Amino acid sequence: MSLRRAAVLLAGAWTATATALTFPQTVEVDVVFPRNETYAPAAVFPVVFAFQNPALVPTLDPGFQLELWQNIAHNNSLALPDIDLGAVNFTNSTGPLYVYTYALNINTTNAGADASTQYNLAWSFSAGNCSASTTDSTEAASFGGGFVFNNVIFTIAKEGGVAPSINTTDADSCKDLSYLAFNLTGTLTVPDPTRQWDGHASCAEFSDTMPTPASGNPCAATADASVAASIMAGATSSACAAATPAISCPSKSAAMGAAVPVSVYTISAWTVLVFAMML
Ligand SMILES: *[C@@H]1O[C@H](CO)[C@@H](O)[C@H](O)[C@H]1NC(C)=O
Ligand SMILES: *[C@@H]1O[C@H](CO)[C@@H](O)[C@H](O)[C@H]1NC(C)=O
Ligand SMILES: *[C@@H]1O[C@H](CO)[C@@H](O)[C@H](O)[C@H]1NC(C)=O
Ligand SMILES: *[C@@H]1O[C@H](CO)[C@@H](O)[C@H](O)[C@H]1NC(C)=O
Ligand SMILES: *[C@@H]1O[C@H](CO)[C@@H](O)[C@H](O)[C@H]1NC(C)=O
Ligand SMILES: *[C@@H]1O[C@H](CO)[C@@H](O)[C@H](O)[C@H]1NC(C)=O
Ligand SMILES: *[C@@H]1O[C@H](CO)[C@@H](O)[C@H](O)[C@H]1NC(C)=O
Ligand SMILES: *[C@@H]1O[C@H](CO)[C@@H](O)[C@H](O)[C@H]1NC(C)=O
Repeated sequence: MSLRRAAVLLAGAWTATATALTFPQTVEVDVVFPRNETYAPAAVFPVVFAFQNPALVPTLDPGFQLELWQNIAHNNSLALPDIDLGAVNFTNSTGPLYVYTYALNINTTNAGADASTQYNLAWSFSAGNCSASTTDSTEAASFGGGFVFNNVIFTIAKEGGVAPSINTTDADSCKDLSYLAFNLTGTLTVPDPTRQWDGHASCAEFSDTMPTPASGNPCAATADASVAASIMAGATSSACAAATPAISCPSKSAAMGAAVPVSVYTISAWTVLVFAMML
């Protein structure tokens, strides 16, 4: 069998699997980090989301709006590079699929003089559904949806905080993760993706009775040590790619002298950083 033939067969087999999807299906987005915990000040502070059942995520035409507020008074926020979900390839992932951004030099208020400071990761997720026209049920007729707002409150403390760790050995900590779940009863073909649904070819039909299930499965999104290490390495090299890095980085000329691959430093801060892990 030629390689070309094998590739065609593989693609065909995958398509068959995709169309054999049985509904309802639950799609879930979980905040893997930060959690409701107390952390030590950190140069690189990751903000990590996991998608369960990622192949269906594009049907939601998803988007994030993230704010990391210092103080519950919400009078100061830390910059987070955007996560552009439109640039993520969700197609062939079985999940969980992790996306992340990061804050730099997180510390207590008063330039690190205060003993502890509360932060609020205000995360909004936009998701939409569509419904069939009564005349032609094979085509999407109208689109609905909007943002859902959530918060994760955590503390930075000069003393007694743990170093930020995406992975955790605490089996119970996942139970409190912030998440959103969506209950899909099917998908419809988007009639004109160039003008509708941000280019996504199909759109989600939500359950009428249970569109956002109250109980999700955030423990299935827990990151292991290798996922955590990859994300920290990616966030650090992204921060170090800035013209004037805000954190202490290996010197670029020293790195070149040491023959570190240049590509390590070419990830720009706004690039979507994504790791797909098949579990
Ligand atoms: C999808 O991913 C699986 C597992 O990595 C792989 O075996 C398969 O070839 C992929 N299919 C396509 C169409 O890329
Ligand atoms: C966060 O943790 C504290 C201390 O364990 C607990 O009292 C509080 O209820 C938790 N908050 C949330 C929103 O889980
Ligand atoms: C924000 O509010 C806190 C607590 O009220 C205050 O100490 C701090 O100075 C304020 N920061 C800014 C930037 O206004
Ligand atoms: C997404 O990934 C799948 C599987 O690896 C691949 O077949 C497909 O071409 C990719 N799509 C884009 C837009 O890169
Ligand atoms: C936090 O602030 C303190 C006091 O300014 C400083 O000594 C420490 O290096 C800072 N930590 C980080 C991770 O920026
Ligand atoms: C789905 O979207 C339609 C608009 O097309 C809206 O009327 C309907 O209420 C939505 N259904 C759910 C469960 O959100
Ligand atoms: C999804 O909705 C269907 C009805 O539309 C319901 O039977 C099913 O239990 C719901 N699934 C979840 C996880 O809530
Ligand atoms: C998390 O993973 C790192 C390796 O990336 C490991 O060194 C560390 O012990 C792990 N931490 C926890 C709390 O599991």
